[in-house]
Amino acid sequence: MKRAVFLAWFLLSISSFAGEKQKAPENYLPNVSQGEKLYQSNCSVCHGAKGMSDTTLGKTLKKKPAMIADPVILNRLSPEKVFELITHGFLDRGMPSYKHLSEMERWDLAAYIFTLNCNGQRPAPDIRPSLSWIETKNQTDSQIIEILKKRGVPEKYLLQELSASRYLIE
Ligand code: HEC
Repeated sequence: MKRAVFLAWFLLSISSFAGEKQKAPENYLPNVSQGEKLYQSNCSVCHGAKGMSDTTLGKTLKKKPAMIADPVILNRLSPEKVFELITHGFLDRGMPSYKHLSEMERWDLAAYIFTLNCNGQRPAPDIRPSLSWIETKNQTDSQIIEILKKRGVPEKYLLQELSASRYLIE
């Protein structure tokens, strides 16, 4: 009897722990380097180490995995959209769902994807982004450029500012 009570308590504590693990705190700031590790272990098998989709597995699928380093493809998406995509997958096209990863891990991944095409460069060390994650997570790259222009950021800094926002430099 005692053992059964212990077992019930044990199972309950595991499930509430798992529940907590799933939920990202509001305004969670993703960790891009964690996202990169998750990308290499979960996604690169189809999308390629650098997002070029030049993979052996990709060639066997009916639908070639999207070349996510391509600015045209990336520009249809925002981190929020990629979060949804990772959560649900693209099952009819052969991309699995990643619901088993925690919410934070899915945000890390979604944020990382947007560093695959930051004009191919890491942001300059002295640039701090003028837009926060909250302001950019539902924006495409061109929408961010538009916002920066409206705020008067000079043309020559636009791409560097974009990179700084996507790399989530603090
Ligand atoms: C088994 C192969 C496979 C794996 C693994 C995979 N994908 Fe995909 N992915 C695809 C296919 C196929 C498509 C659809 C391509 C199309 O429609 O042009 C796709 C599309 C996408 C797109 C573009 C969506 C759009 O609207 O154009 C993104 C972004 C993406 N995947 C990200 C990821 C991420 C992040 C992971 C890892 C968490 C991942 N994929 C894992 C096969 C895969």
